[in-house]
Amino acid sequence: MSDWLDVAPEQDFVPGSFEVVEVDDMEIAVFRLSDGFYAIEDLCSHAESTLSDGKLKGDEILCPMHGARFSIKTGAALSPPAYEAITTFPVRIKNGVVQVRDSRED
Ligand code: FES
Repeated sequence: MSDWLDVAPEQDFVPGSFEVVEVDDMEIAVFRLSDGFYAIEDLCSHAESTLSDGKLKGDEILCPMHGARFSIKTGAALSPPAYEAITTFPVRIKNGVVQVRDSRED
């Protein structure tokens, strides 16, 4: 199991904001939504665009390249042209710091 990685102090996140951290060979985008923190791989499953460059609408992110929608909470692809889900990651708050963990090898 991998270690938890510091992202940023909780107070730095207003609702609807995000931070991107690099973990090994990928980038993870950590979002603060209205009901908590969620993390996704920052890469569209359609043609590998950077999702955090897209528009946030509620708990969905719109890919800036071709407009596919993804659930930030579940990673599900919600509209074409993307059909494959994106990976989500566990997030926690420890001592006021938002942390994320690469759970791909759990
Ligand atoms: S790259 Fe994201 S929808 Fe095509």
